[in-house]
Amino acid sequence: MTVLVTGGAGYIGSHTVRALVAQGRDVVVLDTLELGDRSRVDGVPFVKADIADGRAVERAVRRHGVTSAIHFAAYKAVGESMEQPLRYWSNNVAGSVALVRSLLATGVDRMVFSSSAAVYGTPERVPVTEDAPLRPESVYADTKVAIERLLATCGAVGLRSVSLRYFNAAGASDDASIGEDWDASQNLVPRVMKAIVTGEPMQVFGGDYPTPDGTCVRDYIHVLDLAEAHVAALDHLASGGATVTCNVGTGIGTSVAQVIDLAEQASGRRVPRTVGPRRPGDPSAVYADPTMARTLLGWTARRDLRDIVASAWRWHSSGR
Ligand code: WQD
Repeated sequence: MTVLVTGGAGYIGSHTVRALVAQGRDVVVLDTLELGDRSRVDGVPFVKADIADGRAVERAVRRHGVTSAIHFAAYKAVGESMEQPLRYWSNNVAGSVALVRSLLATGVDRMVFSSSAAVYGTPERVPVTEDAPLRPESVYADTKVAIERLLATCGAVGLRSVSLRYFNAAGASDDASIGEDWDASQNLVPRVMKAIVTGEPMQVFGGDYPTPDGTCVRDYIHVLDLAEAHVAALDHLASGGATVTCNVGTGIGTSVAQVIDLAEQASGRRVPRTVGPRRPGDPSAVYADPTMARTLLGWTARRDLRDIVASAWRWHSSGR
């Protein structure tokens, strides 16, 4: 009953691996370590390999008695995906096709897939429901749509799956031992932390949006809640549940200014910042309707933005 976790040494993957291990489940991590960090999953069975390496994947499945997979392994930098599209199509999409082939060849018939709210692009209305039109605005988002579609067709060949569309993942582990490094991420929460710690001002991208305080609104979801969503998705599949695609968010929209405020409260320090122009392509407000995850997976976010920011601060201020 071992779970294969591809990309399990990454930011979200490693939090999920720890959640599984904490529940006494058997796990094997498969990661190239190109971007992952082995020390995040110390003590967990580990295979250094690419998802496209069929022999390595099949060997890992057989050796560890794998019956299900959680598939995180992917490139995820939106800007980079526009400059290096083939790297993204190849690693994310061709890699996933190869992985699915290897899983089916070894009798693994369940997968949880790491998708993204980026598949919606700029949504027509919020909160966003899963039936909103898919309008990917980057190669990165294109690859997530393509893999969702791949998985949606794989029922015919015996693979059931849950695709989880994450909203804005943020925060760190309770023991402040793993978190999201600002060197590896341009995302808001690590940027805010970097500004506090280094004193270098961060840029707020736009202060003139049609939102209550003029800054963009997003749905920040604690990485530990995200980890729990994966466990719930695995359980859904283990109990015979059908292939589904679910938003994973809190349903609450929070502005950039509110994130900064909470970071100042958590750290007791000022966030040095300048308000600059809008970032091209940023929608003014995106947040989830998380009803489907609640009704189908029995999952709901338990932590709020204060928990997210406080945990990120504990991690960044403890020397990372
Ligand atoms: C959040 C808000 C910025 C940095 C991206 C991807 C998406 C998903 C998550 C993977 C926005 C503002 C940010 C900064 C700022 N990734 N901001 N100054 O753009 O909502 O989503 O990451 O699936 O696909 O597009 O996240 O953290 O970059 O930005 O003002 O230095 O913070 O404008 O409003 P985003 P983000």
